Amino acid sequence: MMKRRTLLTTALAAAVALSAPAFAAKPLVIGFSQVGAESEWRTANTVSIKDAAKKEGVTLKFADAQQKQENQVKAIRSFIAQRVDVIAFSPVVESGWDTVLREAKRANIPVILTDRAVNVSDPSLYVSFLGSDFVEEGRRAGRWLVERQKKTPDAALNIVELQGTVGSAPALDRKKGFEEVIAGNAKLKVIRSQTGDFTRAKGKEVMEAFLKAEGKKINVLYAHNDDMAIGAIQAIEEAGLKPGKDIIVISIDGVKGAFEAMIAGKLNVTVECNPLLGPQLMQIAKDVAAGKPVPKRVVTQEGVFPAEVAAKEFPNRKY
Ligand code: AHR
Repeated sequence: MMKRRTLLTTALAAAVALSAPAFAAKPLVIGFSQVGAESEWRTANTVSIKDAAKKEGVTLKFADAQQKQENQVKAIRSFIAQRVDVIAFSPVVESGWDTVLREAKRANIPVILTDRAVNVSDPSLYVSFLGSDFVEEGRRAGRWLVERQKKTPDAALNIVELQGTVGSAPALDRKKGFEEVIAGNAKLKVIRSQTGDFTRAKGKEVMEAFLKAEGKKINVLYAHNDDMAIGAIQAIEEAGLKPGKDIIVISIDGVKGAFEAMIAGKLNVTVECNPLLGPQLMQIAKDVAAGKPVPKRVVTQEGVFPAEVAAKEFPNRKY
């Protein structure tokens, strides 16, 4: 009788042990430092990352840096102190990351860059970089304008440029790519260029200043993102001009707001920049944590949407 009871107890204990949490896989913990909430693009990016983490059972420690590098450095240090499995972040600016990334490396915590690149002396400070080719986006914007200019080959076009956040990879690269393409065209000239910090409010404010200084001399606006273009469109209208007609408007991102502006005839083209990076980020983080090799660079696939296709494409837009 005693022996049977002991056997039963042992069997029960074994069954309990098998179903105990000790056997359940520990969820992956990712510390993510986001740039902020400066644009429609950024909001979609945050939603994508949070949703993908939830879907994959990943514990996400999310920190909003409010567009300040010092907040991102603080967040990364806090992730290191908490011993997260993986650190991911979208760097607000390109430079100034060596020290904190060396700290992460010393703590053996792999770092994944999403969306924006960093400029570091040692590329082993991060394991992978997932995001768009911003130089190519700038080139695409430039190529669209070069084609458009062929319709009126004799007319010189004065361009004003709304740059993104000073020192950020998309601002530097989109400027570079655009300039590279228009460089050989004597009819295309950038007459003013200033940062609008990727926000609607700043885009409007700077466009107002451009209009005040240059007035009707402005033929083209090249905005490094849709939000600044949308803010600038307001300024153009308030100045009594027709955006999309009196001033050609070119921007980057491809958010729904840009499609609405194109359908309304106020924006001429948007170059796509895909913010839906969450699922790919989770996959890379899982692979890194499992010790699998991951690609150093993953470039997202994107298109160009001129106003002519906006109404047809609008129902397919996910952000
Ligand atoms: O880094 C991507 C850029 O950042 C997007 O173009 C812009 O909208 C965002 O704020």
